[in-house]
Amino acid sequence: NEGRQGLINILDLVVRGDDRGSLVALESEKSLPFPLKRVYYIFGTQAGVSRGFHAHHSLKQVLVCVSGSCRVLLDDGQCREDTILNSPDKGLLIEGVVWREMHDFSSDCVLLVLASDYYNENDYVRSYSEFLRLVG
Ligand code: TYD
Repeated sequence: NEGRQGLINILDLVVRGDDRGSLVALESEKSLPFPLKRVYYIFGTQAGVSRGFHAHHSLKQVLVCVSGSCRVLLDDGQCREDTILNSPDKGLLIEGVVWREMHDFSSDCVLLVLASDYYNENDYVRSYSEFLRLVG
């Protein structure tokens, strides 16, 4: 169920499709490898805008681009790898202390984020130099 290629860990989400169309269901601790506590989504991103630019101490997330496309760059302090998310049946799993940036949002991009914990500013690492110190 997981296609690991270095930093980029893609989960193949099960699509329940029939002649009416498609449906993906995600269940805490089953299709997601952590207890789900928070869902948010990023949409209406203005042209040329990039987001993210932080790491987390302990948060785990799965990112699903349910509409449109965007590019996610991950950096573990040693390698930087990016991937284009453009399919509602692919989830990008991000865990560990990994710097993330989101770029190249299409105007119709809706980026769904499933997170293992509530929003907590104390879990953020917003300084790249502090991030490098943490993973170094
Ligand atoms: P921000 O951290 O800048 O988003 P990103 O890093 O994905 O670009 O978040 C934008 C604002 O939304 C900021 O004021 C914090 C707030 N926020 C919440 O209140 N709850 C959340 O779950 C998230 C992700 C952000």
